[in-house]
Amino acid sequence: MCGIIGALCDHDVQDELLGSLRRMEYRGYDSAGVCMLNGGSFQQAKAPGKLSNLERKLADRPLSGRIGIGHTRWATHGEPTIINAHPHISSSVALVHNGIIENHHELRTRLSAQGCTFVSQTDTEVLPHLLEQKIRQQELLDAWREMLAELEGAYAIAAIIRSLPGSLWFARKGSPLLVGRSAHGVYVASDALALAGLVDEVMYIDDHEWGRLTLEGIELYDLSGKPVDREWEPLPVAAHDAEKGGFPHYMLKEIHEQPAVLRRILRQYVREGGEIMFEHASFLHEKPLPKRIVMVACGTSYHAALTARYWLERYLKVPVEVDIASEYRYRDPVIGQSTLLVVLSQSGETADTLEVLRMFKQHTPENDALALCNVPSSSLAREADGLIELLAGPEIGVASTKAYMAQLAVLALLTLFMARRAGVMPEGSLSEHLAGLERAAAAMEGLLADTSAVRRAAEQFADVRGALYLGRGPCYPMALEGALKLKEISYLHAEGYAAGEMKHGPIALIDGQLPVVVIAPRQYHLEKVISNLHEVQARGARIILIVDMPETGRSANAACVLRVPEGDYFSTPLLVCIPLQLLAYEVACMLGTDVDQPRNLAKSVTVE
Ligand code: G6P
Repeated sequence: MCGIIGALCDHDVQDELLGSLRRMEYRGYDSAGVCMLNGGSFQQAKAPGKLSNLERKLADRPLSGRIGIGHTRWATHGEPTIINAHPHISSSVALVHNGIIENHHELRTRLSAQGCTFVSQTDTEVLPHLLEQKIRQQELLDAWREMLAELEGAYAIAAIIRSLPGSLWFARKGSPLLVGRSAHGVYVASDALALAGLVDEVMYIDDHEWGRLTLEGIELYDLSGKPVDREWEPLPVAAHDAEKGGFPHYMLKEIHEQPAVLRRILRQYVREGGEIMFEHASFLHEKPLPKRIVMVACGTSYHAALTARYWLERYLKVPVEVDIASEYRYRDPVIGQSTLLVVLSQSGETADTLEVLRMFKQHTPENDALALCNVPSSSLAREADGLIELLAGPEIGVASTKAYMAQLAVLALLTLFMARRAGVMPEGSLSEHLAGLERAAAAMEGLLADTSAVRRAAEQFADVRGALYLGRGPCYPMALEGALKLKEISYLHAEGYAAGEMKHGPIALIDGQLPVVVIAPRQYHLEKVISNLHEVQARGARIILIVDMPETGRSANAACVLRVPEGDYFSTPLLVCIPLQLLAYEVACMLGTDVDQPRNLAKSVTVE
């Protein structure tokens, strides 16, 4: 959701700005821009559309300077035009912004009355004008503090000031931001990946903090202007994390990384002898088990939580509530005592999920909140009482794949851990389930080694306008996720449905043109799913059947059968992930869409 970068170096920074924007392009890709300061004047270049448009522009007419800022945009206020692209500039301030300035209208009216001229439709444009005005009236540090005190909403800001070529300014409230340093320069960015290959050390900026970087070091302040002291830490990502590793798309690379991710998770959280340990969530080990669990997330992460509800309720016998973060935060939920909140998020920066965590901590500080998150430095990971890191590695494809599988794997371990603590799962069953998860990693490798059947299944989607996905039990949310994946990257309409509910409406859609993906593993009410399959088959649907027993496939008379190895109660969904993700990927490739950066989406949604 917009990526910002700023660089101040002992050399020209244009290429580094562009490299960082490239690594952050997954955050937003409807326009991009850079501004550099050289010889006391701002030079800038902007382009609508993908970053490659800006790169072409700069290849023809390069900019130069040792200090600069850049931005890749996911539009909120104003269309993705060149005028609305960042940086936004007043006569002496150039600035990039991620977030939403909620009181921009009021500020714009006031500044316009005082003579400022606005050219864009963005909320951001008030910022350079406001700062400019403050700088004219007082000392620079006071000007920043006063400007920030006037802002409502969320922001991560990087700015340069025309008269100060040796200072790179930044501020954060609500939107992620970190700074980095190397022997040759200092940087500010929206995420660590942007700094991969550029810096050795980083420092995460907290909400309400701001400051300036110079080649000599950092000055960091809180909102009242008091200096903040913080240690630098090693950069957590490597440059190759942002590469495709020989795959045509990040998404395919990430699908293929899943066996390694699963093994990493098991190695990290399962000790010899089968003991499950969550080091960064000590309350799980020390406090009594909760009487209720509330799981809240958005998008794909929400689907992972829905599957885990089946697991947790079955073994723990405690009520588990699962909700979408944007709904939960506004519905006056009844939280109650002895409730564990589990917030799930790949990025850890999703605005609604983060807000639920904050609301929960404020209303019931006595309860614990656990984050399941892929980015340990993220706001969600840092603000929760405990963290189970997903260990999926940087996920760049906008449609989440490996982080989803990692969430399922971690949730399976969490269920097994709590079931053992509750004394409801015999040691023998526990080790069998753990062995099942181990086997799933090798089984995934087998599935990924030959994807020809999925490619054939994708052909069923060549002439269709939509698709239906059906499943039951823990595979019902997988039907939701399979449909979401298809929608996100192929732009075909797709609906996931509980197989038993299909006859209460969606069955009206079925004709010979509608592919119906039926998820029918042995574990979850197979007979019932097969009855539902016959109901759609009788109406002429094209069935793509995902099974784990060959006999189910043989008896079904489906257009295509995709087989996964047989798993157990916990590992089956992990295996089903593979054909569901690959199917969406193959359909999108066949239809020629932009798989890694599908239209209108952004990977990290840091606004409401
Ligand atoms: C966006 C992404 C989805 C993701 C959702 C939640 O919509 O495009 O892929 O599932 O945000 O993101 P999170 O980082 O909180 O898991």
